[in-house]
Amino acid sequence: MPRRYQYLLGDASWERARLRAQAALWDPVSHALFDRLRIRPGWRVLEIGPGSGSLHLELRRRVRRSVDAVEQSGVFASRLAARIRRDGFGAGRVWRSELSATALPPNHYDLIFARWVFLFLPEPEARVRQLVAALKPGGRLVLQDYHRETFGLVPRPPEWRRFMEADMAFFASQGGDASIGSRLPAIFRRAGLALADDVLHGGHAAVRLVPPIRPPRRGPAAPALAAGLAGSGGAVDCAGRAGRRRTQAPPAPHHEAMKS
Ligand SMILES: C[S@@+](CC[C@H](N)C(=O)[O-])C[C@H]1O[C@@H](n2cnc3c(N)ncnc32)[C@H](O)[C@@H]1O
Repeated sequence: MPRRYQYLLGDASWERARLRAQAALWDPVSHALFDRLRIRPGWRVLEIGPGSGSLHLELRRRVRRSVDAVEQSGVFASRLAARIRRDGFGAGRVWRSELSATALPPNHYDLIFARWVFLFLPEPEARVRQLVAALKPGGRLVLQDYHRETFGLVPRPPEWRRFMEADMAFFASQGGDASIGSRLPAIFRRAGLALADDVLHGGHAAVRLVPPIRPPRRGPAAPALAAGLAGSGGAVDCAGRAGRRRTQAPPAPHHEAMKS
């Protein structure tokens, strides 16, 4: 693990454009997750790593009030401040700091949400526990993140295995895990959350046709091979609910549902 966490993808204009393109593809999946959560007006919400902020604005629209955020990038935080001025829901609290260095109010939030942040973090279990402490009893921690094994390309090029290894190594270089999604349910349970929603999107929302990787040597390619199918990495929605009562430990197996 590196001595000092450094966010791998930065906040330059090309990264902002990449995030916008990715959001256009995946926002409907996140909106469906928000529908399942039945987010209500008035909820106190915190988003970790809003980046360009498309889901931050959507969360504000659903709770009809301001939403707080932890965003380590000054560029993303400033741009977000400019965007939220327009919707009339007021300014939320924005911590311009790394999550691990942020003192959050205890027992405060109905919902804490993050998309594509936990795959970067060196100590995901410690961060989940930090967020659980900031949830109200009965509040929800909801993470949407990658499960890289579901990433596919058809036809599979010969370089695929090496590409996947290099990709995993890239995220691991700062202590992250590009397949964190598969570990989240167990991490949630160990942190005392009851699993309320756990959906694997095997890329179904992200499958799209892309041009062939290399032209066939001879003759026309079969249609299925002429176009490739590319998944966008596959995602896992993982929602955990903090226990409602905090004074009395219930008998097993519900013990894990209580927020300690
Ligand atoms: C891949 S982007 C995802 C942005 C946004 N959540 C979305 O879905 O488009 C990751 C975001 O998390 C922020 N971030 C990464 N590590 C962080 C940390 N340790 N604490 C706070 N924010 C962090 C980055 O600055 C960036 O805004």
